[in-house]
Amino acid sequence: MKKIIVSNRIHYIGANDRRKALFENNWPLPQGVAYNSYLISDDKSILIDTLEFGSKDDYIDEIEAILQGKPLDFLVVNHMEPDHSSMIGLLLRVFPSMKIIGNNKTFKILEAYYKLNPGQFFEVSDGQELDLGYHKLKFVMTPWVHWPETMMTYDMTDKVLFSCDAFGSFGTLDGGVFDDEIDFETRYEGEMLRYYSNIVGKYSNMVQKALAKLDGVPVKFVCPSHGPVWRKDPMKVISLYDKWSKYESEPGVVIVFASMYGNTEKMADYIARLIAEKGEKNIIIHDVSKTHVSYILRDIWKYGSLILGSCAYNAGMHPMMAQLCHELEVAAPKNKRYSLFGSYSWSGGGLKMLESFSSKMSWQLAEKPVEVLGIPDHDKMEGFISIADKLI
Ligand code: FEO
Repeated sequence: MKKIIVSNRIHYIGANDRRKALFENNWPLPQGVAYNSYLISDDKSILIDTLEFGSKDDYIDEIEAILQGKPLDFLVVNHMEPDHSSMIGLLLRVFPSMKIIGNNKTFKILEAYYKLNPGQFFEVSDGQELDLGYHKLKFVMTPWVHWPETMMTYDMTDKVLFSCDAFGSFGTLDGGVFDDEIDFETRYEGEMLRYYSNIVGKYSNMVQKALAKLDGVPVKFVCPSHGPVWRKDPMKVISLYDKWSKYESEPGVVIVFASMYGNTEKMADYIARLIAEKGEKNIIIHDVSKTHVSYILRDIWKYGSLILGSCAYNAGMHPMMAQLCHELEVAAPKNKRYSLFGSYSWSGGGLKMLESFSSKMSWQLAEKPVEVLGIPDHDKMEGFISIADKLI
């Protein structure tokens, strides 16, 4: 690989994973994912986060080529999740005297995962500093972004923030590593929001706390553990995460339906047309049985209005809609105006279950739901006029 320098003596040594189909064995990766790792070769050398095991077979060679015979003095474990920590064992075989930097929560989880010698642990607390020679690092505790032990490492010399999962994105780095080398809006913004809403969004209040800690701290580089590295406009990614973690949405309506034989789908198309006639241009319809929940969750996070519709299924809602509702309950996007609809053939249950779900969300009901028996012909759709009126 060509050397990739972030700033003085700071090397990017990450890996692209184009083989993994599902992140955390759950979230699709059609554009892959990058695991970012950074090596600072200073008077003291330090590696900031590792990679997922097996994602880069020449990782150790690359570290040795940069260190040129010097030992690796430290490894910072900003976050213990194995996509960043599972190369520790291999590193210790090559650099057995390496100290592992983490906080009091890190080591508990590290010991649960790996057989490590606690004598190698170097515990740091919030605000603690470490002098490497040219670079002076500070460790900042940012719990629950995205596990309880998560922290960030800040280089006070060159103003570099190693933020781990925060400011990360799905998507491999295809040649372009830095924000000024990529078409962010086309290639990454959607995947970044999908990553945020799927992985980090549940902890949005903790993201806000982390951002408050960074307030006023000069940042010239944002080096996350997934996705692009920011050097031209680091405030852009910080602002995006700020917006998403404050649940600020854009004008637009997401309509999600679950339909067995097409009747509930017709209702979705009907309400979408009414909304379009009101002048709304951002309308997205998702068939929950066809589109993976991760994309639907992303679009719901993005737009301010939401309509959910389900046919009745075994006296409840359709199982695919139930899965979406479960993910919504977990991630808990806020500040939504919503309505519901359903269809049934005899005793119903789809809409009732959607109502029970939505009562647990802190959303604002725009207008009462519509429920249709059998085929949704024109006479049965009047209620949708009022939903379109109130939602827009
Ligand atoms: Fe990229 Fe929470 O691990």
